[in-house]
Amino acid sequence: MATTQETQKTETTSTPESETATLDVFRYIPEEDDEPHTETYEVETFEGMTVLDALIKIRDEQDPSLTVRHSCRMARCGSDAVYINGTQRLACNTQVGELKQPVQVEPLPRFDVIRDLVVEMNEFYDRMESVEPWFQPDHEPETGEEYLQTPENRRNIDTVLDCIWCGACTSSCSPAASDSDFPGPAALAKAYRFYKDEREGEETRRRRLEMLENSHGIYRCHTQFNCTEVCPKDISPTEAIMEMSRDAIKEKLRFWR
Ligand code: FES
Repeated sequence: MATTQETQKTETTSTPESETATLDVFRYIPEEDDEPHTETYEVETFEGMTVLDALIKIRDEQDPSLTVRHSCRMARCGSDAVYINGTQRLACNTQVGELKQPVQVEPLPRFDVIRDLVVEMNEFYDRMESVEPWFQPDHEPETGEEYLQTPENRRNIDTVLDCIWCGACTSSCSPAASDSDFPGPAALAKAYRFYKDEREGEETRRRRLEMLENSHGIYRCHTQFNCTEVCPKDISPTEAIMEMSRDAIKEKLRFWR
């Protein structure tokens, strides 16, 4: 079941941290529920409590059936991206005390729900794989030769290297929702990471650009910057896509070079 994207809202007000917080949590257990519904929970808070802390506390103390995916609890694994008060966020990186209450917690919009806050990620991973996110040099190294990269070139890809595959950006992207052949912002940022890597060589760089240069590829981006706004790692997939689009057009207009 796909959830619907609601109007994106940015938190504009902070409430002082109270002793308890109220969370309205999306619930759906397919074996038991005909329809999704919302359950309201009161949670005793502590200083620095994150939404993930609150969900785990609810699961441990009030309702063991509540299901949320998580692992590292430090914004590294990307497994707990959810929709909090109308914005895609990592639950482990969002403090309850900074949110307007009741805190609305829902699964990532535009992903199929498996159960409660857990969504199906397979289509997202397929999109990632579609851009061939692995190193493909156009020459074999001589024996003992290393693939050396200049510091300047490394800095070019610094901007996108921190992606943790959480899916927040793809969830926020309307072209990705309407076009299953569009890789979406996370995959295109990953494509950019390899496209800019000088160690792959010119031949591979051109092949990568040709692969992305079509109406379901880089030209599908509407430059809405939703993906950039929600990325928990401050990556701007939109800017990466725009740069590749500019390069693709320049490749066509060869007199520019
Ligand atoms: Fe790993 Fe939040 S639990 S990113």
